[in-house]
Amino acid sequence: MEQNIFGKQGWTPERLGNLDGKTYVITGGNAGAGFEATKVLLSKGAEVVMLNRSVAKSEAAIKDLKNQFGEQAKVSFIKMDLAELSSVRNAAEEVIKTVPRIDVLICNAAIAQVAKQLLTPDGFESQLGVNHYGHFLLINLLFSKVEEGGKRIVIVGSNGYKMGLKKIQLEDMNFDKNYNPMSTYCHSKLAQMVFAYELQHRIKEANRNVDVYVCHPGAAKTSLGKEEANLTTRIIFAIMSHTPLAQSAEKGSWPEIMCATEDNLKQQAYYGPTKKMDMAGPIGECKLEPHALDREVAGKLWDISEKSTNCEWNL
Ligand SMILES: NC(=O)c1ccc[n+]([C@@H]2O[C@H](COP(=O)([O-])OP(=O)(O)OC[C@H]3O[C@@H](n4cnc5c(N)ncnc54)[C@H](OP(=O)(O)O)[C@@H]3O)[C@@H](O)[C@H]2O)c1
Repeated sequence: MEQNIFGKQGWTPERLGNLDGKTYVITGGNAGAGFEATKVLLSKGAEVVMLNRSVAKSEAAIKDLKNQFGEQAKVSFIKMDLAELSSVRNAAEEVIKTVPRIDVLICNAAIAQVAKQLLTPDGFESQLGVNHYGHFLLINLLFSKVEEGGKRIVIVGSNGYKMGLKKIQLEDMNFDKNYNPMSTYCHSKLAQMVFAYELQHRIKEANRNVDVYVCHPGAAKTSLGKEEANLTTRIIFAIMSHTPLAQSAEKGSWPEIMCATEDNLKQQAYYGPTKKMDMAGPIGECKLEPHALDREVAGKLWDISEKSTNCEWNL
């Protein structure tokens, strides 16, 4: 890659100015990288609305954040389970009703390494259902609101997009024949990214005005996969977390904060840690593999996603 535009140390939150008056809506803000991103945004005076699935975890997170930043900290949550399309619809309605302006929508939440094929209540393989279909619908429902506000969407992808099958399995989206915790997770993250880059194209072609940025946290010590992975995977993760490949959850949050706040980023790009196979190190632009940019596949994924989530894009 070219030299890091942020210098040798890469992007760091030191670049952030005052974010007073800005509102960030983030999915999965109660844990991991999403929680760390919320902390940094609040520390700069921003308002953060978290879209989380657990009331108890959300309340605990808000308590923790208010302990750190004071009772006046502008942090709240709306209950949303990305695994259920009806919950996504209800949450989006609530956001539209109660949040006056969205500066940035950060699609951060995910599940990973789910040990066995599970189906969501709507009948989707769970990782694809939560990570891709849930966000696909959410972005569709909040798109106009984002466009009226700060005009920016951030998709948190994963290096997994270049592992696993490296293709969208259009003929068997639920992995009925070849379910595998890792490759099915990778498929869901690739789907999120293929959609993100296609959304950029369609926004431009329709002369609409929203920027979409794609990033990844590298390998970060979060709770990802801790509950849903099988024992072997959990042991591997625990061992990996003690190697120099794994970085803190806080550092894992920097790419999404950067994409939510920095001017002059490229859209058809992939941002995250740039060293150790893009797992850790200075935050900057990483190489983007061409299979994430295949528009023919993206068009088919788009159609399947509209049909599956029963929504239509007017772009
Ligand atoms: N950690 C890594 O090394 C790594 C590597 C590559 C990519 N990523 C990506 O980074 C992002 C952040 O992950 P993380 O590592 O911070 O994971 P994490 O610690 O497990 O946090 C994930 C967040 O997503 C929420 N979530 C899960 N399922 C949800 C659902 N159905 N509805 C709404 N929210 C849901 C979780 O809520 P609960 O607390 O209720 O479970 C939690 O708040 C994800 O997009 C992930 O794919 C992470």
